[in-house]
Amino acid sequence: MLITYYSRTGNTREIANQIHERVGGEIIELQTVEPYPEDYEAVKKQAMQELNSGFKPALKTKVKEIGSYDVIFVGTPIWWGTIAAPVKSFLSEYELSGKTIVPFITHAGSGLGRSVTDISKLCQKSTLLDGVAIRGRDVKTAQSKVSEWLQSIF
Ligand SMILES: Cc1cc2nc3c(=O)[nH]c(=O)nc-3n(C[C@H](O)[C@H](O)[C@H](O)COP(=O)(O)O)c2cc1C
Repeated sequence: MLITYYSRTGNTREIANQIHERVGGEIIELQTVEPYPEDYEAVKKQAMQELNSGFKPALKTKVKEIGSYDVIFVGTPIWWGTIAAPVKSFLSEYELSGKTIVPFITHAGSGLGRSVTDISKLCQKSTLLDGVAIRGRDVKTAQSKVSEWLQSIF
């Protein structure tokens, strides 16, 4: 199993670590060549422009031997109602056909939004399991929700 995720402010990383404690496997944080701005207004503006243009940022992180994983957990914050651009890059860059993709998502109130639909468009030949959505402010206390979700999908 592989757990891979993008996290700008740590919420999605927290859930990734909770999943890793329960299922094991490899865990890889996706980093972009150009880091996103720390300033919230600046990153919101940039992310909106990237969404409108379909831009996919170059990833500094390289996942070796993607072929050796059957199950890939993919974690993302919600950016403007969908997956963050670095996760879009990951799903586009790697050959994921035949693999099982398990999304996990953090957000500030909007829930899954269009994220699952957009993930399925980017990996049409993968099996997509039900994802979990956790509010950013609740990530530290999400252990039981994460456990229940994992039990429900496996
Ligand atoms: C550019 C940008 C756009 C966002 N858009 C949304 C949104 O549409 N809906 C929402 O609920 N939260 C939105 N958020 C909040 C994040 O999804 C939320 O804080 C998330 O937990 C951050 O995860 P991270 O700490 O792993 O980066 C947005 C945050 C950023 C930076």
